[in-house]
Amino acid sequence: MKQFFSVKDISSISQAVKSALDYKQNPYKDENLGKHKTIGLIFLNPSLRTRMSTQKAALNLGMDILVMNMTSDGWALETKDGVAMTGNTAEHIREAAAVMGEYCEVLGLRSFPKLKEAEEDYSEEFFSKFAAYCGKPIISLESATLHPLQSFTDLITIIESFDYQYNDLNKQYFPFTKKPKVVLTWAPHTKALPQAVPNSFAEWMCQAQAEGLVDFVIAHPEGYALKTEFTIGANITTNQEEALKNADFVYVKNWSSYEDYGKITCTDNSWMITSDKLKGTNNAKVMHCLPVRRDVVIASEVLDSKQSIVIQQAGNRVWAAQAVLKQILTKE
Ligand code: CP
Repeated sequence: MKQFFSVKDISSISQAVKSALDYKQNPYKDENLGKHKTIGLIFLNPSLRTRMSTQKAALNLGMDILVMNMTSDGWALETKDGVAMTGNTAEHIREAAAVMGEYCEVLGLRSFPKLKEAEEDYSEEFFSKFAAYCGKPIISLESATLHPLQSFTDLITIIESFDYQYNDLNKQYFPFTKKPKVVLTWAPHTKALPQAVPNSFAEWMCQAQAEGLVDFVIAHPEGYALKTEFTIGANITTNQEEALKNADFVYVKNWSSYEDYGKITCTDNSWMITSDKLKGTNNAKVMHCLPVRRDVVIASEVLDSKQSIVIQQAGNRVWAAQAVLKQILTKE
C-alpha cells in the first residue's frame, strides 16, 4: 500500500479488520517491523484521537514519530503554482512536502476543507499535491472529504460488537445469524462541520453492504444529501423515526449541507439522539467519531448509557492505524 486515502486503497475490508483485531489481541507481535523507520504526522487542524492513536500504533510497531502542527509551528504554505509569493505564504508546498519526505519513511496528513467552494474542497488539491511532492507513502489523517482511519475503525467496532464469524478459507467475515441494520443519522450542531466523516462512513458501509456484511440506511433532513458517489447502494430517507426502527447500530454525526455547500440549513433540535428515540431500535449500539457536543448532538443520558460504545470505538483507532501502517511497511 502506498496511500491510505479511502476504502478503495484496501484490497479486502475483511482481511483489514482481521489484521486490526489480531493487533488488538497482541499489540506487540510486530514490535520490530518499523524499527529505524520514522512516521511524520502533519496537522493543519486540531486532533486528539487521530494524533494519539496513530502515535500509539506507530510505537507498537517500533517506529519513531515526528509531529508537526503546521498552523502554530510551520511556515504558512502556498499551494498555487506560478504565483510570486509576495503575500502571507512563506513556503511552497512543493518544498515543504519534499523536505518532510526527506525526514520520514511514512507521512500522515490532516487537512480540513474550507467549506467555501465544493469544487475546491472535493478536488482534494492540498492532499494530492502533498502526496505527490513528499515522495513517500501517505496516510490520510482526515482530508477535505474523507476520514478513512475513522471509518475503518467504525467497521472494526461493528464487526467485533455483533455476531460475526471469520471464515479462514475465503478470508471473509460473515454475519452468523443476521446482518445488522446500521443507520447513519444526521444530528444538529452549532457550527458548520465538514462532510468527511459521513462521506467516509457511507463509503465503507456501502462496501460492507456490497459484501453482505450490513444493511445500511442514511437519515438526514431535506437539503443534507451527501455527494452521491459515496452513498451508492444505501437506503436514504428524511424520516429519522422510520430509519431508526429495528436498528442495531446508530451512527450519529452532524455535517453541513453539500447541496447548499458548507451551510447550516437545518437547526431542528428534534434530530438529536435521545433515549426516547432509541426505543424503536433493536437496543441499538450508539456510535460517534468524537468529539461530540453533549445534549446538542447526542443526549448525555445516551452517552452515559450502556448503549453508547463511543469509547470502545475511539480505542479501536489504534488497531486501525496499526493495520494500515503494517500494510505500508510491508508494502502489502
Ligand atoms: N474522531 C477524530 O478524528 O478525532 P480527532 O479529531 O480528535 O482526531
